[in-house]
Amino acid sequence: MRIVLASDHAGFLLKELLRKHLQKKGFQVEDCGAFDDKEAVDYPDFALKAARAVQEGRFDCGIIVCGTGIGTAIAANKLKGIRAALCHDTFSAACARAHNDANILALGARVIGEGLAREVVEVFLTVPFEGGRHSKRLEKIKKMEEERNGTKISP
Ligand code: RB5
Repeated sequence: MRIVLASDHAGFLLKELLRKHLQKKGFQVEDCGAFDDKEAVDYPDFALKAARAVQEGRFDCGIIVCGTGIGTAIAANKLKGIRAALCHDTFSAACARAHNDANILALGARVIGEGLAREVVEVFLTVPFEGGRHSKRLEKIKKMEEERNGTKISP
């Protein structure tokens, strides 16, 4: 499984910990930055890099981290085909995959500790999409994306 990571300055440390953890577990991981927490950067820039990589099929999923996870999730969800889920518990992470087929996990480094974040990531990476009744709901979201006009962010 290929995983793309991104964060702003606030999410940098948690992203680093998760990157090392995932690499140790043998995942193919690419880091889009930020590469330090010395200067404040803008979360949409980094969320966009990871979301684009998933949108273009270069990675199976993404993990994006900012202070709360909120801004980065909002930004990533502007891209067609991206379903970024903000999850700070394992139940939400499991449902984000099983029901929503989420392809990006958003985390807030100022909200969640490393131990729980690792568990949330583990669940997110292992639970499959259930399909069935959930597929027709995703089809409705896809239709909404098709109908959206004027504000398309080009891939
Ligand atoms: C940065 O201070 C903070 O606003 C950002 O990391 C994030 O929490 C935004 O949603």
